Amino acid sequence: MANEPSGPVPPPPAGPGPWRSPLNRSLDTVWKFIENRAGIKTWALRGQPAFTFNPSYWTGAFVATAFLVQVLTGLLLLLYYVPSASPAVAGAPPQAWASTNYIITSVPMGWLLLSSHLYGAYATIFLAFVHFFRGFYTGVYKPPRELSWMVGTLLLVAMLGMGFTGYLLPYTALAVGATNVGISLTLSVPTLGPFAARLLISDGTHQGLLSRMFALHVVVIPLALAGLLYAHLSLFESHGIAPKATSDPRAKNTFTEEDDKKVGRFFPKVFLYMTKWGLLYVGMLLLIAAAWPWQLPVYFGSTTGAASPEPDWYFLWLYKLADFQYVTPAVAVGVVTALVVFVLFLPWIVQILPWLDGGKRRHPRDRPAMVFLANFLVSFFILMTIWGGIMPGVQIPATIYGTYIAILVAANAVPLLILYPLYKSNYRRRLLERELERKSAAPAEGLVRAPTPLPSAPRPTAAPANQEAAPRA
Ligand code: HEM
Repeated sequence: MANEPSGPVPPPPAGPGPWRSPLNRSLDTVWKFIENRAGIKTWALRGQPAFTFNPSYWTGAFVATAFLVQVLTGLLLLLYYVPSASPAVAGAPPQAWASTNYIITSVPMGWLLLSSHLYGAYATIFLAFVHFFRGFYTGVYKPPRELSWMVGTLLLVAMLGMGFTGYLLPYTALAVGATNVGISLTLSVPTLGPFAARLLISDGTHQGLLSRMFALHVVVIPLALAGLLYAHLSLFESHGIAPKATSDPRAKNTFTEEDDKKVGRFFPKVFLYMTKWGLLYVGMLLLIAAAWPWQLPVYFGSTTGAASPEPDWYFLWLYKLADFQYVTPAVAVGVVTALVVFVLFLPWIVQILPWLDGGKRRHPRDRPAMVFLANFLVSFFILMTIWGGIMPGVQIPATIYGTYIAILVAANAVPLLILYPLYKSNYRRRLLERELERKSAAPAEGLVRAPTPLPSAPRPTAAPANQEAAPRA
């Protein structure tokens, strides 16, 4: 461009520019005061290591975002919902159902709001499972994140509790039936069962049950979730994000100097990254809710359309388990309890049995037994959910489910048994080749070159000795 001035760019004019208006300066002063007194930059508005800008490192943040959307849509629904199991006038549907129907038919955009809350619940629970399995596959429960894992497990249980209690609120025949199945499962647990069930059913009336579920859904569990989330995020802040898991046998799972240097600042990097995903989530949720608005099933007590009890998808596997021959409700609850206890104490179990989980290694390639377990759990969950969806309440003989489980075990174990030794020998060969290449590239005069620094040397900064803290911005 011929008429563009050449030479050094002149400095911006001195004095207040449009960006330094009195309003901007006042806002700046207020913000600086808040920053200074609350130290926000050192906790909430921290930067993140550059390598974490990949959705797999943000699964927990996605769950938190989805949960936040649930809180907002839930609060709006609370403006119209009436938690009463009795009809407003004799012969009318229960008010809980009628008010839900009113939201759908008469509140402006109410149908969209209700559908968003319902699909949002599915998404939150789905994302929580993704976050959980991501942690399982990458071994993030290993020291020093044992407590983060345990609090996370409690969060997952509380999230499922939100799903269970919320399901009854529209007071449909389907929901009342499914809730009763859940309560009879709880009742079957020796000693604790009747006590827990009594907490849920109150005085045994329909209203007692609905009131308890409502209180649990809108007050008790959200408060527990808030406390647990606070603990979870505080623990996350003190340990920082887990470093990249590496399968290089010579490297440790710690931050490298390189990682320490490359940090994405909170603004604009982290802020825009999360805003992008958050907006995408809200957009997708609204799109799905608008395309497939939820149809309210018939109310409890209606004489039209008998409905067999059916829970939401995330409990279908448990309902199907109770259909298995020899699996009494007590056994089904026992299996679930054992699973939860196993997950809760997983960080300690693998410390007692380090051979089971590759010792301190975190990369899935070094932990074939855990990969097998995770693959088995995912495939078992998918199979049971589909089964529960297409054949609810149908008894399954032991020979049939035994065969299916044996097929699942074989389908997950055989590829691992074949691939793992192949991978190991291939990996050793590649390591050896690299070592030879390095030696042949060394100076020929017989000088021994210092070994190349490991890709993940321990952090040089003053992090506590027992942990691999994330770099702070
Ligand atoms: C259900 C609600 C949950 C929420 C809202 C939540 C939220 C978060 C957030 C925001 C993080 C920061 C890193 C990231 O964004 O991924 C995180 C990390 C973590 N979460 Fe969760 N989480 C939940 C459930 C769980 C569950 C079920 C587990 C496992 C049982 C778990 C275990 C962990 C661990 C170990 C970390 C540290 C991971 C790392 O450093 O890479 N969380 N969580």
